Amino acid sequence: MSNVVLEARNIQKQFNDGKASIEVIKDLSIKVHAGEFVSIVGASGSGKSTLLHILGGLDLPSKGQVLLNGERFDHLSEAERGYLRNQNLGFVYQFHHLLPEFTALENVAMPLMLRSDANYKQVKLQAEKLLDRVGLSHRLTHTPGELSGGERQRVALARALVTQPKLMMADEPTGNLDRKTAQQIFVLLKELQQELKMSMLIVTHDEQLARSADQTLLMQDGMWADPKV
Ligand SMILES: Nc1ncnc2c1ncn2[C@@H]1O[C@H](COP(=O)(O)OP(=O)(O)O)[C@@H](O)[C@H]1O
Ligand SMILES: [Mg+2]
Repeated sequence: MSNVVLEARNIQKQFNDGKASIEVIKDLSIKVHAGEFVSIVGASGSGKSTLLHILGGLDLPSKGQVLLNGERFDHLSEAERGYLRNQNLGFVYQFHHLLPEFTALENVAMPLMLRSDANYKQVKLQAEKLLDRVGLSHRLTHTPGELSGGERQRVALARALVTQPKLMMADEPTGNLDRKTAQQIFVLLKELQQELKMSMLIVTHDEQLARSADQTLLMQDGMWADPKV
């Protein structure tokens, strides 16, 4: 069995606004292996978020294929794509994207509650376990508005990992935090990767985070500056 968790082949993406069409991704391929940490760096506007959304099955490429755990996103219905993501992928955004009216515990429990076989008691235990692991066992019933930026990002991490995904994707997870808090989240990310034996694909401006990756890819003009695939 192949140990490739995520593979993208010759991805292209253009956006059309009626008149003009901009080509954000020209030709990108990537492989992420089991347990591997890949970082993507590049100037603002170079298309990193666009690429991550495509790799995470949140958007489809104009051309090319993405395979998560060996399954092609473009061969699946939207519901099937959602299922494949829920089973294999944890996603962390720069701005946490937590649901404001729900508590930390409810936010973290959400990806498991969406499963058809969800058992509320077990889900609650698993969510509590993850929140405890990210150092927030004393904040279970707080809503996002009652938490600090660093705490919100910890909740977002717990939510991404509650399903024990094979791969965690993060779009500038420390980009909106002060230096000290960013450093703490960085350490936590590295620890969790080891503990959960998962792969990580992280877009970051944080040099320390990027440098500590097994593979660092620089995005430039919609391509890798130094093709590695
Ligand atoms: N939905 C969209 N429609 C039109 N243009 C978009 C859309 N999403 C992103 N873009 C454009 O694609 C380029 C890359 O954006 P993005 O992927 O957010 O870059 P990065 O994350 O590297 O800062 C930008 O020029 C942006 O304006
Ligand atoms: Mg971005």
